[in-house]
Amino acid sequence: MVETTPSYWVDSAPAPADARSVLPREADVVVLGGGISGLTTAYLLTQAGRSVVVVEADRIAAGVSGHTTAKISAQHNLVYAELVRRFGRDRARAFGQSQTAALEWIAGRVAELGVDCDFRRRDNHVYAEDPAYLDKLRREADTAAELGLPADFVTETELPFPVAGAVRFRAQAEFHPRLWLLRLAEEITRAGGTIVENVRASRLGLPDETVVHTSAGTIKGRDVVVTTHYPVFDRGLYFARLEPRRSLLMAAPAPASAPQGMYIAADTGHSLRTTPGREGEPGDVLLLGGEGYHPGEDTDVSARFDRLARWGADRFGVPGFPHRWATQDNITADRLPYIGRYHPLARHLWVATGYALWGMTNGTLAGLLLSDLITGKDNPWAALYDPARRTVRQSAPSLAKLGAKTGLHYAGDYARAFAPGGGIADLAPGEGTVTRVGRKPVAAYRDPDGTVSAVSAVCTHLGCLVAFNDAEKSWDCPCHGSRFGTDGSVKHGPATKPLPPVDLDD
Ligand SMILES: Cc1cc2nc3c(=O)[nH]c(=O)nc-3n(C[C@H](O)[C@H](O)[C@H](O)COP(=O)(O)OP(=O)(O)OC[C@H]3O[C@@H](n4cnc5c(N)ncnc54)[C@H](O)[C@@H]3O)c2cc1C
Ligand code: FES
Repeated sequence: MVETTPSYWVDSAPAPADARSVLPREADVVVLGGGISGLTTAYLLTQAGRSVVVVEADRIAAGVSGHTTAKISAQHNLVYAELVRRFGRDRARAFGQSQTAALEWIAGRVAELGVDCDFRRRDNHVYAEDPAYLDKLRREADTAAELGLPADFVTETELPFPVAGAVRFRAQAEFHPRLWLLRLAEEITRAGGTIVENVRASRLGLPDETVVHTSAGTIKGRDVVVTTHYPVFDRGLYFARLEPRRSLLMAAPAPASAPQGMYIAADTGHSLRTTPGREGEPGDVLLLGGEGYHPGEDTDVSARFDRLARWGADRFGVPGFPHRWATQDNITADRLPYIGRYHPLARHLWVATGYALWGMTNGTLAGLLLSDLITGKDNPWAALYDPARRTVRQSAPSLAKLGAKTGLHYAGDYARAFAPGGGIADLAPGEGTVTRVGRKPVAAYRDPDGTVSAVSAVCTHLGCLVAFNDAEKSWDCPCHGSRFGTDGSVKHGPATKPLPPVDLDD
């Protein structure tokens, strides 16, 4: 069984020792979640003179943004031909412009503030080894170039294996996401903002949805921004229009054959880039990602890590990856993020989510857009990203598919848990199972010392059954991607409450 590690970013840029946990009672703006979306929004609003409190359930910059690949690019896999087909040329062009504006905003702030975050310009590539992808790649390159993006089609790359072709976007960028975000956090507090860590938001007031109930009491904002990755409040029905996707990442000292540029494979999904080694590490570090899956739908995640490591060994001769971790992102019904009012009637409640694995520009764009909306400025991209836009309502088939999948899990997973099978006594150290104890579905895990911990297997979000993730030792929900530790603690939303413990002696 594979053991996961902290992400390379978390290991190479430790958090300040002290978490700050005293929650103020009010602020102009309460930002929930301290990832790239929340911290960028908070930074811009403190610069605009607003009093801002960031409420983070864990430590800042340690969620998805601390576990990403951190390519900063307007090239989001093969997206432009599809955007033209779905939305037309003008909106596809506006998408490219907004993503480029976010990239350049980061570049500008890194230079202006002198941030030491390994920011470097690199070409980004979407490649395929399979010749069946050639037409798609050519079409994407032509479309993106027509939309004014720095795109072309190439057949030669620096990868140490032949490719059928690639779409190249010139002069995109990459950085160390935590060094960037920890610096943004410093700037927020320097400008008078407050960051509170280890405090989890659990619900909004009724009827006043600018009152936030948290594990440390309530806080009232004039505006409340929900940047908790998966929105944690159900009133926008995001659970019916977001699909989570989890992927693996690994890091190792870069071999000589590692590319300088950034790459993602349209056919296999493998993602590659390098980053400068931090203290004591000579040369670059190679980051390799892939093996995407729907969280909670695969319990043999170790096999995925093994496959990814084998691919790295075959293609680059890397003998082993000292860092191995995983993270997840959300995909929307029409492929564009949801950034704007939380629901159509909301006046002071805002949301940003659904970045489809491209949150470095999208999360930054969320900050630019939401800070404009909150300060009453016009923003040219507000309608494009509005969560209530028409194209989301028109995406009925994909919404129906998502709903059906959730329904199938609900019924099928309960049936499996109640079927006769291996029980808790059969668990080997490091194994977990969902089974029935009396009338209750129970998630039981045997730790390496042989001690069994048992918690309810019923997800505290909307009641689906969790499944064991053997590599990360977590309980993952297949319905909307909530994740819990073996002690039941929340690791990832939308759930906000832990899985309650079960006493096996009862
Ligand atoms: C494998 C993988 C690779 C990726 N690579 C790239 C890439 O190369 N380039 C790119 O642009 N994007 C990439 N992405 C996407 C990008 O990392 C994410 O879209 C982005 O980091 C999301 O940022 P966020 O601020 O929305 O979420 P997060 O960074 O997760 O921040 C949300 C924060 O909210 C907190 N929170 C949750 N619930 C609560 C609560 N109830 N109360 C208070 N706080 C709460 C969490 O603890 C967390 O800190 C990748 C994604 C994946 C999965
Ligand atoms: S995440 Fe929604 S039911 Fe579990």
